[in-house]
Amino acid sequence: MSTYPAIACVFGNPIEQSKSPIIHSMFASQFNLPLQYQKRLAPSDGFALSADQFFADISCIGANVTMPFKLDALQWVDTLSSQAKRAGAVNTIIRQNNGFTGDNTDGVGLVNDLHQHNIAVNKANILMIGAGGAAKGALPALLDAGINSVAIYNRSVDKAQALVRHTNRYANSKARLYDSASVQVFDIVINATSLSLQNELPDLPDSVFVNQPSVYDMVYLNKPTVFMQKATSLGCTMAVDGLGMLVNQAAQSFYLWFGQRPSCEPVYLHLRDLNK
Ligand code: ATR
Repeated sequence: MSTYPAIACVFGNPIEQSKSPIIHSMFASQFNLPLQYQKRLAPSDGFALSADQFFADISCIGANVTMPFKLDALQWVDTLSSQAKRAGAVNTIIRQNNGFTGDNTDGVGLVNDLHQHNIAVNKANILMIGAGGAAKGALPALLDAGINSVAIYNRSVDKAQALVRHTNRYANSKARLYDSASVQVFDIVINATSLSLQNELPDLPDSVFVNQPSVYDMVYLNKPTVFMQKATSLGCTMAVDGLGMLVNQAAQSFYLWFGQRPSCEPVYLHLRDLNK
């Protein structure tokens, strides 16, 4: 897009806590782009009207969408990227000449952060813990990155089954239910629940860590999460939290809007510092 000064925003409810303005301002300054990035609190039943009002201004080139509007955004846009279709959710809206495209950058953010930590994704056997929006959003990009298989574990088995079915519609039978009856060996274990925010662990046997997999917790705190600590105590040497995923999903949104790939590292370090 070439309409400057550009305006973008993040829609959410609540929205005060969002780090997106800090992240995108830092990205924009890497390219001397005069980007004005706003936080927009939309009423919980009023996403479509809020989006209509925001995008009425032609300077508004795109938006991020966070809780609880990722499904509303899926309905609101004119076209969907393959990532958004498969994820069943939109976290990024891009104004284009002929309307609005919805994309989902969460999965690409995760995969790029795994790569930045030198965690090999290609051919990996993955355990995905959780079957909500975070898990569903991550799977398309993991499959595109060439994983070998994904076992899905969830407290509510029916939701895990539904996610396995949904995933296998596009994933060539690479998804299956986690089976606690047998020891399975994983290369990467991903916690896509927010349990660590309550200092709680998923109800899984220690055997999931038997191969000393790389461990990724999608949430982040000012110290290693309880899930990371558990993995480390069982011999896992690579345990990563979700701060890098946050920065990387934003970087992918920025790329979709401006065609420029920002450097994530300085932004990551700044946020880590703020979060001390
Ligand atoms: P998100 O969109 O962030 O993924 P979500 O759709 O509410 O949020 O999903 C949250 C995930 O965390 C789900 O997998 C949920 O399990 P259920 O489907 O059984 O609800 C999981 N989760 C949340 N609280 C949990 C708890 N106390 N114990 C185990 N799993 C929990």
